[in-house]
Amino acid sequence: MCGIVGYIGHNRDIRIGLEALKRLEYRGYDSSGVAFYNKETKQIDSMRAVGKIVNLEEKMGGLDLKGSPVLFHSRWATHGNVTEENAHPHQDCKGNVFVVHNGIIENYQQLKDKLIKEGHTFTSQTDTEVIPHLIEKFFEGNLEEATRKALALVKGAYALGIIARDDPNKLVLAKYSAPLLIGIGENNEYLAASDPSAIITHTKNVVYLEDGELAILTSIPGGFSIEDYSRNPVKRAPRETEWNVEDAKKDGYAHFMLKEIMEQPKSIKDALRGRIVLEDGSVKLGGLEDIKEKLKEVERVQVLACGTASFMGKVGEYMFEEYAGLSSKGDIGSEFRYKKPVIDKKTLTVVISQSGETADTLAAVKEAKRKGSPTIGIINTMGSSIAREVEQGIYTHAGPEIAVASTKASTAQLAVLALLSLYLGRQRDLSLVMGQRMGKELLRLPELIKKVLERASDIEGIARKYENIKNLWVMGRKYNYPAALEGALKIKETAYIHAEGIAGGELKHGALALIDEDFPTIAIVPSDSVYEKMVSNIQEIKARKGPVIAIATEGNEDIKSTVDDVIYIPKTLEMLTPILSIIPLQLFAYYLGVLKGNDVDKPRNLAKSVTVE
Ligand code: AGP
Ligand code: GLU
Repeated sequence: MCGIVGYIGHNRDIRIGLEALKRLEYRGYDSSGVAFYNKETKQIDSMRAVGKIVNLEEKMGGLDLKGSPVLFHSRWATHGNVTEENAHPHQDCKGNVFVVHNGIIENYQQLKDKLIKEGHTFTSQTDTEVIPHLIEKFFEGNLEEATRKALALVKGAYALGIIARDDPNKLVLAKYSAPLLIGIGENNEYLAASDPSAIITHTKNVVYLEDGELAILTSIPGGFSIEDYSRNPVKRAPRETEWNVEDAKKDGYAHFMLKEIMEQPKSIKDALRGRIVLEDGSVKLGGLEDIKEKLKEVERVQVLACGTASFMGKVGEYMFEEYAGLSSKGDIGSEFRYKKPVIDKKTLTVVISQSGETADTLAAVKEAKRKGSPTIGIINTMGSSIAREVEQGIYTHAGPEIAVASTKASTAQLAVLALLSLYLGRQRDLSLVMGQRMGKELLRLPELIKKVLERASDIEGIARKYENIKNLWVMGRKYNYPAALEGALKIKETAYIHAEGIAGGELKHGALALIDEDFPTIAIVPSDSVYEKMVSNIQEIKARKGPVIAIATEGNEDIKSTVDDVIYIPKTLEMLTPILSIIPLQLFAYYLGVLKGNDVDKPRNLAKSVTVE
């Protein structure tokens, strides 16, 4: 789930890997560790620490730590408590094999029982520890050989980095259902990482591993080779990552989350760039060229995603129905993969993911493909597992999103969903005039977003006023119902406050029972086709003394007399309002989290990219 960094090259200060590991801190983790081959003692040294990476750094302290190969890890515990014993790297009984692992070994208990019977001693509660012991069992001097044999017995998801004292000039990597890539450095240096942002300061040339592949890195010219588990060589040329170092810095903002919220005029512009063809009232989506004809045949849309991305997908459902006339349904990845979904080649599957690595979403795509459904990915991370799995893709181009709580990547998903609905609509009955209107309005979004962001300090003031709330509804209708679900999730993630999203019309079916003077509601009430209905819902709350904060359209002065606080957003097409209404909710969640003293960029218990089930 969390971070792997590996290095092989010269006998240099191993802190090169520590700096890379810190770049993965945003993903959320609970402990960290390092192992490296010490050329002087000819042993592997290792250190681990609970908590922040600086704790590991302190342990490494003034020591002269030189070595190669090197493995670093940050752990997000799945099996076993957060303790130093459970932190990675894990080792075999002989201090020979050292392993870092992201993911879950599903059959670890059977393997562990068997290994214990065979005389192995375990020192942790993790699933991971079976790997070094299995490799130990098969080790006869060649690390990749023993790894291959060990992995034949393992079920589950893993990205593995492995080194051995008795085969010291190698760094072995293996991947199955968890991301892992090789970075090609200069002067015969190679890096390994679970995420390209770890190593972009060193190299932009990367090679992604595929499931069922093993890589052997050595510090000689051309020193990396990839093979499958049957030893068939795999040839894959390095590619350049599009992310750059500046993108991954805070730029003077207190938190990545705030920086990313503030970047939205740019990220939306980047998501739209070169894609709108105003003369034709249509859009150009390079990724869809090859399946253009197939898309004309599609009769339904199935949207698949998790968390925030699934809420963005829900907005997409409304868009596809209204503008492309396609019946549309959304599912969260973890449900879809275990039901018996009724889809076929006439059902277009649209998969949404910022990281492109979410295990549940990935499994859902595979299921959709198996059923013959054409698949399109709306993805932020180029070359990621989902990006590679889908038939065609539309990248969101939001740049790296570091804060765990998704902000700019999710509004970019909305912009791309609008483009896609326009594309599918124009293939069907959507008129040129409407297409042009949508295109023009999309292009205005960056300016409109700037206006919302100018209200940040007002929103901070409102957050202060509600700082001590224990519960909160976020309410919306139609396009803004999913926006309400998203706002509530943001508030849970960063402020640790119980917040729920609700459709305005549902209130009277039960939820109204909770309302009293201590239970506020944020009502998303732009001047649109459901405005009057929303105002009635607000009245229902006010009649029960519930405080209401409205997110309303600029110029609507009337609303002020009904609610307690108002945050204004500019007028836009109804289908695009969530892009504007979500932003005040992001800011509200951010400021509440900061006021509460929470680590907003890395909320407790969460990880950025959820590569386990
Ligand atoms: C967003 O704030 C969350 N951290 C989470 O719900 C996230 O959107 C979800 O895990 C899906 O991630 P993905 O977009 O990388 O697939
Ligand atoms: N399942 C392993 C553990 O709990 C690896 C977790 C991770 O991916 O960080 O230690």
